[in-house]
Amino acid sequence: MSLFSIDEKLCVKDGICVAECPTSVIEMKTSDSLPTVTDGGETRCINCGHCVAVCPHGAISLARMSIDQCPPIKGALSLDENQAEQFLRSRRSIRTYKPGDVDIETLTRLINIARYAPTGSNSQQVHWLVVATRDKVVQLTALAVDWMRSAIQEKNPVAEAYQMAGIVHAWEKGIDIISRGAPALIITHGPETYPVMTIDSAIALSYLDLAAPPLGLGCCWAGFFMAAAGFWPPLAEALNLPDGHKSFGAMMVGYPKFTYQRMPERSEAKLSFFK
Ligand SMILES: Cc1cc2nc3c(=O)[nH]c(=O)nc-3n(C[C@H](O)[C@H](O)[C@H](O)COP(=O)(O)O)c2cc1C
Repeated sequence: MSLFSIDEKLCVKDGICVAECPTSVIEMKTSDSLPTVTDGGETRCINCGHCVAVCPHGAISLARMSIDQCPPIKGALSLDENQAEQFLRSRRSIRTYKPGDVDIETLTRLINIARYAPTGSNSQQVHWLVVATRDKVVQLTALAVDWMRSAIQEKNPVAEAYQMAGIVHAWEKGIDIISRGAPALIITHGPETYPVMTIDSAIALSYLDLAAPPLGLGCCWAGFFMAAAGFWPPLAEALNLPDGHKSFGAMMVGYPKFTYQRMPERSEAKLSFFK
């Protein structure tokens, strides 16, 4: 089967698909010919769907992505500049959660929005591990506390830098500074050797962070947990990831207990232009 098919009745030969294809897979031999696959195009196609999504006439379909799998963009749902600014500026790291677990359907819906984050060469290598109950979060967080205890004992400089003694002390008194009482953790993982996994994972989790508020949810990066999963084998093993995978990021998720009323200021952009 060919890489893509063209509906001859709909194609107006405007060359938009040729111009937009990121890997030059599509060509028009003359200005009057239908788009065809370039030499070696089959192996270069990254299945990004741009040709299908950009065609104003619905004339192209990919073998691995039909036009029916690409819903139209509804203009009425687009954000204007002010809405976009408020949407982005009002995102907050949430550290106080309502009690109770988040249901699996809601967590799945959240990931099903976040998974549209960009990935290097559209490789889509980000895997999601959902720690879906507070009990399980506590069990895993306890292993992160063990890592901190060991770092303190070994006088590892990170212990002092991240004030681990205080975090461990708080944990022993029932205060969770690592996972902040969150009822869920979402961990990204993927092939250890994949070169841009760290970047793909960070973008995916940033999408997750932004996708959460419209679902009533709030998130916070779980930096201590991420570090522990990277450095402490008992935690890495407890995650039971597939062979060759490692964790690349972690986010706390839950229903926020409080509602933010204002958007805090940040330092000005450290900005320069070349002209
Ligand atoms: C890589 C990274 C790791 C973070 N780790 C933690 C963490 O372990 N615990 C925590 O409470 N907040 C953590 N944060 C949240 C930051 O403290 C927070 O983004 C920052 O204070 C700004 O607040 P805002 O997200 O509400 O704008 C982390 C953020 C990032 C980007």
